[in-house]
Amino acid sequence: MRFYRALLLSSVAILSAPALAIAQATDPDVRAESALKQMTQDEKLQLVFGYFSTEAPWMSFHVPVGGLPDSAGFVPGISRLNIPPQWETDAGIGVATQRSPTPRERTALPSGLATAATWNADLAFQGGAMIGHEARMSGFNVMLAGGVNLARDPRNGRNFEYGGEDPLLAGTIVGQQIKGIQSNHIISTLKHFAFNDQSTSQDHLNSHIGDAAARTSDLLAFQIAYEVGDPGSVMCSYNIIHGDYGCENTWLLSDVLKTDWGFKGYVMTDWGATHSTVKAANSGLDQQSGYPFGGQNYFSAPLKAAIAAGQVSQARLDDMVRRNLRAMYANGLMDDPVSGDQAAKLDLTKDAQISQADAEDAIVLLKNEGLLPLTKSAKRIAIIGGHADVGVLSGGGSSQVYPLGGSVVPNEGPDAFPGPMVWYPSSPMKGIVARTSAKITFASGKDLKAAARLAKSNDLVLVFATQWSAEGMDQSDLTLPKNQDALIEAVAKANKNTVVVLETGDPVTMPWLDKVGAVVEAWFPGTNGGEALARVLTGEVNPSGHLPITFPASLDQLPRPALDGGAHGGDKIYIANYDIEGAAVGYKWFDKQNLKPLFPFGYGLSYTTFEMSDFIPEDVTPQGLIMRFSVKNTGAVTGKEVAQIYVSGTGWEAPKRLGGFAKLELAPGETKSARITIDPRLMATFDPSSKTWTVAEGDYGVLLAAASDDVRQSVKVHLSKMVFDVRGRLAR
Ligand code: GLC
Repeated sequence: MRFYRALLLSSVAILSAPALAIAQATDPDVRAESALKQMTQDEKLQLVFGYFSTEAPWMSFHVPVGGLPDSAGFVPGISRLNIPPQWETDAGIGVATQRSPTPRERTALPSGLATAATWNADLAFQGGAMIGHEARMSGFNVMLAGGVNLARDPRNGRNFEYGGEDPLLAGTIVGQQIKGIQSNHIISTLKHFAFNDQSTSQDHLNSHIGDAAARTSDLLAFQIAYEVGDPGSVMCSYNIIHGDYGCENTWLLSDVLKTDWGFKGYVMTDWGATHSTVKAANSGLDQQSGYPFGGQNYFSAPLKAAIAAGQVSQARLDDMVRRNLRAMYANGLMDDPVSGDQAAKLDLTKDAQISQADAEDAIVLLKNEGLLPLTKSAKRIAIIGGHADVGVLSGGGSSQVYPLGGSVVPNEGPDAFPGPMVWYPSSPMKGIVARTSAKITFASGKDLKAAARLAKSNDLVLVFATQWSAEGMDQSDLTLPKNQDALIEAVAKANKNTVVVLETGDPVTMPWLDKVGAVVEAWFPGTNGGEALARVLTGEVNPSGHLPITFPASLDQLPRPALDGGAHGGDKIYIANYDIEGAAVGYKWFDKQNLKPLFPFGYGLSYTTFEMSDFIPEDVTPQGLIMRFSVKNTGAVTGKEVAQIYVSGTGWEAPKRLGGFAKLELAPGETKSARITIDPRLMATFDPSSKTWTVAEGDYGVLLAAASDDVRQSVKVHLSKMVFDVRGRLAR
């Protein structure tokens, strides 16, 4: 290292003064320092205090001057120093609008869980780049995306916004989305840091989990997403962790995020998640967001007073400001400033194609006994339920994106937050009609007898079932709501050629599974979700989604069959004892407990078949174990396979962990080989005292699979002991 520093200094020495000045002009740390030095105390305080940016009469609050209406947040800028305001929009599937009679009409990606079901990092990046562009063209320079909380509980109402149950898959997909968003010279967040894994009683829920288990589960997902996406900001969470709220938690914000991982951006709160001035500032919080949510202006006058009183150091305030500025410089907010509402220039048709490509890769074929793709022989097809005649469902809450023309199904679901329930005007039925010559008849499914009669009089039935998920509410169980199980039973009884199409935010049970011929999980498929479904169901596209979350057979398979928490509100603090499963989240729990789920993590069928071969360890480097393998398309149509590599070791939280994955598109008969490097942290145990990852000397199982329960090849690899630092760099 000394050599490199000498080389650097010598090169700097020969730079002429102007060149040095130019050199400095590109370094965000140097630029942040320079701006900081010129700021008054009040200007510094202005940068660490953010406002809501939507009319809120119930809080006697009006959009601040300069804020964009009906949007998430606004932080005034400092024009004399060329520091722009921060215009903040939600969220992870596109440019959301807070509740408004005139919402912005923008493109919605499929849900985050759907994008995770693609196992396609490139698509995740492209989707992020698209929504980040729409955010920029709508006047926003901060996008509150990057939700990566692990699916510890399949009932979590916000699982649809995140990346599923595995740290590597979730961290990779969400990290790529953050990278895509920031490619537009705007800031993306990473959220909600951390263990905010359910909504029920979230601000009265005290999450307990050991340090090692934390680092190899939720925190590993955040760490991977941070390394892949390099977010300008991290949003701390509503819940309590080991007794301290997420936004005043020194262990999370200062020790883990800033010291261990080296995060140089800024920590903003969730809206209303600030609980103090001194404790929060000294724990590592850098910006209060969304005032007047939370009720108090902790980081405005009270912070000024706390600094004057010596309770918070000037150095801490300067660090907050430096971090804000650095993230803004590093992401181009000064050099490539947004220029107000340019939405009229957006090509929403083109953007919708990007959303559709994501949806087509996300749809998971769970069962198929010859009914799909829709055969030409089906002359009469009944389509029943799920408003499939007009559109597809989306998730609710702060991430709500409104479509062109508004929701195509009005007045379903709650009107108040997290409603309204929004349906995108992309009709699966319309897409199918355009692609088959069959006679197609629709029924709403509200009248079970009528649905059964219609099913009986047709060659084949597509029954659509939906489950709405939304922020602030968890599913009470895993059952399809609105008596849809009975509808499916009635239809399947009337016609055995029944295909079930699910549009859900979470896993659901399927008591009718043995009675139907095919099942497809389409998640919340986004702006062009109907088109995507039609193309998959008719075979124009071969389904290639694989489950990013386990579908349990029943609640009693879960670590906590009864959801933690209790009646909303009140002062009681509930415990979420995540030490029950520790890092054994999702499939790891099922493996450890030897439980058989309804459908396992990583599962997904195709209209073709694949073979995997030549699975060999190629090398061991400081970057990890390199495995090589081949995949062949042994069927008659082009398709994409998700090759999954699992690793197994001794003394781990569960029998195996996902160590790597790759999605390969193959023509009939085509073979492709690929290499995957397995991050050493995925083959290690974490030691909290030394903060190191140790790969113990010994034999490891390395499995090449098409699902977590479908291992195609396995090898034993002997590794010598290796120790890595907290960031996964070889220490010795
Ligand atoms: C919400 C959400 C967060 C969102 C923020 C702004 O309560 O928890 O994800 O970005 O507030 O709307």
